[in-house]
Amino acid sequence: MTYTTPPTTPGVRLAGLTKILGGRTIVDGLSLAIEPGELVSLLGPSGCGKTTTLRMIAGFLSPDDGRVEMAGRDVTALGPEKRPSAMVFQNYALWPHMTVAKNVAYPLRVARRPRREIAERVADALELVGLSHHADSRPARISGGEQQRASLARALVQRPKLLLLDEPLSNLDAKLRVRVREEIRDIQQRLGITTVLVTHDQEEAMAVSDRVAVMNAGRIEQISAPADLYRAPATEFVAGFIGASNRIDSLGLGSGEDGVHYVVRPEDIALAEDGIRACVTRVLPHGHFAEVALDARGRELRAYLSGSVPAVGDEVCVRFDRALRYVDGALDGAVDLVSERIAG
Ligand SMILES: Nc1ncnc2c1ncn2[C@@H]1O[C@H](COP(=O)(O)OP(=O)(O)OP(=O)(O)O)[C@@H](O)[C@H]1O
Ligand SMILES: [Mg+2]
Repeated sequence: MTYTTPPTTPGVRLAGLTKILGGRTIVDGLSLAIEPGELVSLLGPSGCGKTTTLRMIAGFLSPDDGRVEMAGRDVTALGPEKRPSAMVFQNYALWPHMTVAKNVAYPLRVARRPRREIAERVADALELVGLSHHADSRPARISGGEQQRASLARALVQRPKLLLLDEPLSNLDAKLRVRVREEIRDIQQRLGITTVLVTHDQEEAMAVSDRVAVMNAGRIEQISAPADLYRAPATEFVAGFIGASNRIDSLGLGSGEDGVHYVVRPEDIALAEDGIRACVTRVLPHGHFAEVALDARGRELRAYLSGSVPAVGDEVCVRFDRALRYVDGALDGAVDLVSERIAG
């Protein structure tokens, strides 16, 4: 394979990036620094401004305020073709009348590269995504995952120093999503290419990213390594968005202090000799654990229990082993209740 690692894969810096569309602030003073060779996901609910942000990084949309820098250079005023990036779009839009190879060759033909170079680079890109055997097929004759990989090849053939992917797996079924996302991560690691991946699928973001930026209403709520995002969500929004959680007003469940909330993960709820009395309302077996819904004085709690699982209608006592404390929506600390109990 002659595809070589981009010699100087750039870092990316967004500073105060802002976009107003239809009178609404869609991206709101967004700042973010991505290291060379890093894969960062933009994760957030539909409509939070992910695609708009990616289009500004690619140069398809110019910001109303703020700056885009690549490798320390201000590229805000440059068009997409002048930037070292290539984008895979949310709908992967292959030309139906062209073969896979012609589709992949397209950006190089537009750039008027010599015929021989095009042939070599297309062959390399197809090999990289495992599609050499489909070079002469038309898009309609290959599977969704193969079409997705063809559009990835069409981006990689440009030898971008920065890869921008907008929901590249959105049209695949669950199994294929997992496989293609692993392939994308593998290619990204092999090439050492700086990558920004947009997704609204948290499992996907957590699985492939070095860091995940959680977006809400045009802003970044938190950027962290996947594990930190789950263990220490910086805001109540992130706590609610990443994984399952129970939000309560006080650890005794009753009314608490103003502006204070607690978030308890389902796996941090356990059955106990004494504690909070609750009634089991639903049990969903998941194999090695059960998802149990509890009614605790009118509040619903969701717990993941393993070992001996109670039945619907049972009266039980539960304790919280760990809780996250939020004051006015911001993380104030994790309360480790097991060690607190032992210490006290
Ligand atoms: N040209 C436009 N004019 C007016 N509003 C727009 C325009 N483009 C996007 N928007 C609005 O900006 C908001 C953010 O859009 P964007 O496509 O960035 O969201 P997203 O986070 O990518 O969502 P999804 O996960 O659904 O793809 C949406 O409410 C959308 O309706
Ligand atoms: Mg989008």
